[in-house]
Amino acid sequence: MTPWMRRLHKWLGLLIGLQFVLWLGSGLMMGLLDPDRIAGSAQRAPAAATPAWPANTVSPTEALRAAEHPAATLDSGWLLDRPVYRRQSPRGTEVFGALDGQRIAIDDVLALRVAQSAYRGEGVPARPLYVEKTLETRAHPDPVWRVDFGDAQDTTIYVSAHSGQVLEHRTATWRWFDIFWMLHIMDYTGRKDFNNPLVVGVGIAGLWLALTGFWLLVGSFHLQEFIPHRWRRRRQLMVFAPGGTHLRTVAAASGDSVYVALAREGVNLPSNCGGGQSCGLCEVRVRGTAGKPSAADRAHLSEAKVKLGCRLACNLAVDEDLEVEVAGGASLWSEQWAEVVKVVAVTPFLREIHLRPEHAVDGQYQPGCYLQLHVPEYQLPRTALWYPHEHREDWAALPLPATLHNKAAVRRSYSLATPVTTSGGDLVLLARFSPGWQQSKRHPPGKGSTWLYTLGEGDRVRYSGPFGDFALSGVAREKVFIGAGAGMAPLRAMIQQRLEEGGSERIHYWYGARNARDCPYAEQMAAWQQRYPHFSWHPVWSEAVAGAVPRRVHEAADEELLRNHPDLAGCEVYLCGPPAMLAATRQLLRGLGVDESRIAYDDFKI
Ligand SMILES: Cc1cc2nc3c(=O)[nH]c(=O)nc-3n(C[C@H](O)[C@H](O)[C@H](O)COP(=O)(O)OP(=O)(O)OC[C@H]3O[C@@H](n4cnc5c(N)ncnc54)[C@H](O)[C@@H]3O)c2cc1C
Ligand code: FES
Repeated sequence: MTPWMRRLHKWLGLLIGLQFVLWLGSGLMMGLLDPDRIAGSAQRAPAAATPAWPANTVSPTEALRAAEHPAATLDSGWLLDRPVYRRQSPRGTEVFGALDGQRIAIDDVLALRVAQSAYRGEGVPARPLYVEKTLETRAHPDPVWRVDFGDAQDTTIYVSAHSGQVLEHRTATWRWFDIFWMLHIMDYTGRKDFNNPLVVGVGIAGLWLALTGFWLLVGSFHLQEFIPHRWRRRRQLMVFAPGGTHLRTVAAASGDSVYVALAREGVNLPSNCGGGQSCGLCEVRVRGTAGKPSAADRAHLSEAKVKLGCRLACNLAVDEDLEVEVAGGASLWSEQWAEVVKVVAVTPFLREIHLRPEHAVDGQYQPGCYLQLHVPEYQLPRTALWYPHEHREDWAALPLPATLHNKAAVRRSYSLATPVTTSGGDLVLLARFSPGWQQSKRHPPGKGSTWLYTLGEGDRVRYSGPFGDFALSGVAREKVFIGAGAGMAPLRAMIQQRLEEGGSERIHYWYGARNARDCPYAEQMAAWQQRYPHFSWHPVWSEAVAGAVPRRVHEAADEELLRNHPDLAGCEVYLCGPPAMLAATRQLLRGLGVDESRIAYDDFKI
């Protein structure tokens, strides 16, 4: 099952689940309500014996003379103690006295007498109310007189204002039944149509949910999630660093995913989704033969990685003893603390956060790597978000809630934005604020970035890492960097490292932002361009600025370099930015014939 299907299953499940609760709840309530109370049997007067039809009535033909409209049908019957003819036509019903042929108008006095004759109980009738074509009288085409009796069951009797017949007895229990019936059949306007599009749509969605749920169930059986942990066979899961150093062996229950097996031992692989197959961070490489990749593996990992045996740990079952390599695996067993020593608002929504770790960093902290920050539960007032005076208008435009929540601890990944060799061992992050607007829809602001934007000097932060395999190749090939948004972080660290260590190959950097105000480090990039003649900086604006045509960053790189490059195959390309930009750039590079092995990218999924 592809991750999008899993996600859709989850959210649709929530929606349909609510309707299922309504179906079950309303069905149960309708079953529990007493049918006699619904029908108001105790408030109905027993039917009186019909008297013999008198001999001295006028003939129907005579009675019809006074009729306004041509008749469709004619019935004889009784109105209280009077024999009457009821004449029905497409225009409604008319009543005529069978003794004198006179038309009888059903006024409030007569309606009250009719209602009283149909009622049994202690209730005192209120003045009849004339009701015409409302939801209340939806079942009756003609106007009605409504008579309330004010008894314990709130009995109401409806009398037709045309025929003078008693149409309905309704009680408080009936009204409850009516609400449950409406919820049950999802006809919120007419309360009678079982075939309405809403109920049909939910039915189809429910069927889709059941089928995809069955598919998920097969996956769960595969991971033996229904067999208690202690009954499953013991397997060995050996964890290695990418160089081949054996880090640890943990016992796993057969069928556990690698992600779960390690979590049982208190080891958390990098993850933004908690094992939900949607973040793509829990990547491991299987040593030996890797099984068939799943749709989730293919969705998150490049083809080259899949071929190398990389798989998502949350989707990789430990059926046999298994050996896996984890990039940054050595960091899995240690969690660190660091203190915030500096915060710089680089642009309104991109912020540098300098962390000083408690323990000195080592050679694993390379540009391109990321840390997993442990974001605690929090509930903070909106005012906990601080920003400098010059950004106050940008922030004032955000529709942020008054209270900011994170109801359960989560982990979020942030890349190093400066080489640790330059920062004196501090961990410099560049965090983008996720305001909660996506495709014009309002969502809660991001849990991790909100928290980061409340941090100030002296705060302490827990993290794991460093992780990841996004790194410089170590080869002096011409390099093309293309990025946007928070993708600036790892790309800047990589470029800075390469320039400062004296690399002399050409380095091009295309960076996309909305406009100059949203572009971080523009001055620094321009200064590097001056200082290092083999480095070129190409900011690209996606908004029309000062008459310039808005452009997308990959298109600019293509026009200005890639399509006319004499030896593109000899270059290596580094990409980092929003998913749409990454996808478009990778597609462009594929079209230009750049080999996958020459493209390195990090997908932040934001
Ligand atoms: C390897 C890696 C490195 C990264 N490096 C960086 C970095 O250097 N800098 C950086 O800024 N980020 C980086 N990220 C991204 C970062 O980890 C977070 O994903 C990002 O900060 C958003 O997390 P959040 O907790 O703020 O948002 P989340 O709470 O995860 O929400 C994500 C987005 O969804 C929206 N949302 C919330 N609820 C809903 C809903 N019900 N429906 C739809 N949308 C919703 C939020 O508003 C937000 O925009 C990196 C990610 C990865 C994988
Ligand atoms: S994909 Fe997120 S943990 Fe596996």
